Amino acid sequence: MSELARAGHQPGSTGPDPSPGLDLRTDVPHSARVYDHILGGKENFPVDRAAAAEIVRHWPNLPTSMRANRQFMARLAQVLAAEYGLRQFLDIGTGLPTPPNLHEVVQRVAPESRILYVDNDPIVLVHARALLTSTPAGRTAYLDADLTDPDAVLASEQLRDTLDLSRPVAVSLIAVVHFIGDDDVVRDIITRLMRPLAPGSILALSTCTADSAPEEVRVGVAAYNASGIPLVARTKAQVEALFDGLDLIDPGVVLAHHWHPDAAASATDDAHVHMYGAIARKR
Ligand SMILES: C[S@@+](CC[C@H](N)C(=O)[O-])C[C@H]1O[C@@H](n2cnc3c(N)ncnc32)[C@H](O)[C@@H]1O
Repeated sequence: MSELARAGHQPGSTGPDPSPGLDLRTDVPHSARVYDHILGGKENFPVDRAAAAEIVRHWPNLPTSMRANRQFMARLAQVLAAEYGLRQFLDIGTGLPTPPNLHEVVQRVAPESRILYVDNDPIVLVHARALLTSTPAGRTAYLDADLTDPDAVLASEQLRDTLDLSRPVAVSLIAVVHFIGDDDVVRDIITRLMRPLAPGSILALSTCTADSAPEEVRVGVAAYNASGIPLVARTKAQVEALFDGLDLIDPGVVLAHHWHPDAAASATDDAHVHMYGAIARKR
């Protein structure tokens, strides 16, 4: 029996077995696997499913909010490729492969698009093969690295081989900065990530808020923290301040389902979405 099966992994896994020595820490919940379980994925373990059940008991609209976030990511990728002409993407905090993945959306618009995915969770590394299905004209690559060390991301061989920093890049931080509690730390990371990028580069970000459902999110964030996963909710003003030095693009910081909504997003209740989303341009 494989390590994954022993740990209670469900069948249907799309990735290779973990490399020997890779510590998946199947004894503690991980944000990537909790998110995967709530979105209906199979790449998670009993400890993640138990944590997810407990968190959702306190935060009943979390699944709706997570789906709204994932759909925001897909609309964002479509808009950046089709309307803004972006062809290079640096997606940090990628998560487990969940169709449609970012490269699938942007390469449908422009097959030559190049995407570097970055995550620090070993389970994402195990399943990264499902992200490396680029069109022949484009390229996808995966880097196992931490958002809190942006210089390592920028200096990586994978970045050098995938992205041309003399041309605009879209950096996406989707549902990841809410795992970093200190606003100054997040702003510093963003400043360092955007500094070497060409004018016209874009920062796309989504992050948790309690503005739309203060009591539910307060209790839900406490349940997340009790499971061992640090999570913070930010106000609209705090999220806007994360874009300091960049030009926010209309409609600015909005609940994720209000960003370029399609019919399904338009029908979603504001009180059920606890994520802000926005994009901004580097001058
Ligand atoms: C909630 S999932 C979001 C996945 C995807 N971006 C989305 O929105 O659908 C958060 C992801 O961020 C990753 N993550 C959390 N902290 C990170 C860090 N410091 N560096 C890199 N990745 C991180 C987790 O491993 C997880 O895969």
